Amino acid sequence: MATFCSHTECDTCPAQVICYCMHVTEDKIVDALQTLGLRTVREVRHQTRAGDGCTACHRRIQGLIDENSYDAMGCGTEPQGARRTLAAVH
Ligand code: FES
Repeated sequence: MATFCSHTECDTCPAQVICYCMHVTEDKIVDALQTLGLRTVREVRHQTRAGDGCTACHRRIQGLIDENSYDAMGCGTEPQGARRTLAAVH
């Protein structure tokens, strides 16, 4: 049975819901970013369906992209920020 968190109750939980319309969690988005090399909100929408509703989560998705995407050239650049900074995006 899946358990979903609210960002107001659990800011740092990777299972927190990022997209409420589509019930997509942070860990699902981060996994897609890291395994598929996604770099845009459009790509995240296509792969995970996060952001396909009201669009209110797009800024949070972009924050996850900024924090978790690797350089497009594949030169091994580390993600720019720690996941814990997501709270600043809210
Ligand atoms: S909260 Fe993500 S589309 Fe509405």
